[in-house]
Amino acid sequence: MTDTDIKKGLAGVVADYTAISKVNPETNSLLYRGYPVQELAESCSFEQVAYLLWHGELPTDDERAEFEKHERSLRPLDERTKKLISALPTSAHPMDVVRTAVSQLGTFDDTLLRPGGVTDANLNEGRAMYLLAQLPAIVAFDQRRRRGEDLVEPRDDLGYAANFLWMTFGEEPHEVVERAFNVSMILYAEHSFNASTFTARVVTSTLADVYSAVTAAIGALKGPLHGGANEAVMEALDEIKTADAAEKWLDDALAEKRKIMGFGHRVYKNGDSRVPTMKQALDTLVEHYDRRDMLELYEALETAMGERKNIKPNLDYPSGPAYNLMGFDTQTFTPLFVAARVAGWTAHIAEQLANNALIRPLSEYNGPDERHVG
Ligand code: CMC
Repeated sequence: MTDTDIKKGLAGVVADYTAISKVNPETNSLLYRGYPVQELAESCSFEQVAYLLWHGELPTDDERAEFEKHERSLRPLDERTKKLISALPTSAHPMDVVRTAVSQLGTFDDTLLRPGGVTDANLNEGRAMYLLAQLPAIVAFDQRRRRGEDLVEPRDDLGYAANFLWMTFGEEPHEVVERAFNVSMILYAEHSFNASTFTARVVTSTLADVYSAVTAAIGALKGPLHGGANEAVMEALDEIKTADAAEKWLDDALAEKRKIMGFGHRVYKNGDSRVPTMKQALDTLVEHYDRRDMLELYEALETAMGERKNIKPNLDYPSGPAYNLMGFDTQTFTPLFVAARVAGWTAHIAEQLANNALIRPLSEYNGPDERHVG
């Protein structure tokens, strides 16, 4: 076996079929169940897109109403979840809180113990909905307690995006903010065999339960080479401060061989298909909050990165400053990604189970030759 036979990072490896989304770097497109993600972001709610990912079709009006009713009914946090989150140190990263809270949700679900209860497709659909509905409450409550604020109960007269912002900030969002947030949730919802989704599929392939798979996926998403990048983008922008400092900051960072967060992608080499849509949403926020300075800084770093390395932004680049303008704490950005991506993870978990094969690759041993003790 030669070095070229080893697919480091599984780069270029096609591990399975999926009917959930299609990433095409040649045409710079991303389709969810055949629909361009830009069109979905333009005309659908996050709930409609979650339905699409799970069922393969957009909902009819009746299906949509039923789906929304169900999602809204599952929003309030269990007292045990409130207690758990309140007991976790605020020095812990919010991703660790989300991961722990999701893991605990699995301990409430005694249907897992029924014969066949782990792999039952109907039960798993209910669990997916439960996670989708609970995550905003978990994320919002954690940010509020860190600010010394009380929990805000969910409202069942608000859609997913508006309710998420309501629970986080305690006020109804302006429609510009709600719209931009909804767009970000749709763009983050699914992206084929990325690291966290693949993690969820690996765990599922062992016939472990949905909560275990999602908990593991959250762990994979935390890293800065994946979901943690949106938070790291904001840290970099905070460090740079003003547009005229961007070039020098970048030159110094590149000289230190630092990776510039929010740039580059394993699959897209000519730009991330989701960026133009998220950038448009960011533009609306810049105008709404009258923060041209943010846009100038954003564009200055993007231009400098293009000139120095010819590397283009990924979705985390516009979403970082967008979440900042909306008022989220920087460490909450990746938990927002969790709340969105759980739609994709659970679609992949169902797909994996429907045609399961244990995921178990091989390795080429390069340690010492056989030897013996004594
Ligand atoms: N900053 C500086 N150099 C970079 C960057 C970057 N962001 N991205 C790639 N490069 C360089 C890299 O140093 C390497 O150069 P050389 O060949 O001279 O060593 C070359 O480009 C190829 O990079 P790579 O890391 O081997 O490419 P990859 O396909 O393994 O990595 C990536 C993709 C996303 C891990 C990488 O681009 C990166 O670390 N980006 C920053 C983190 C980031 O924004 N992650 C979010 C990814 S997309 C959304 C998501 O999943 O959350």
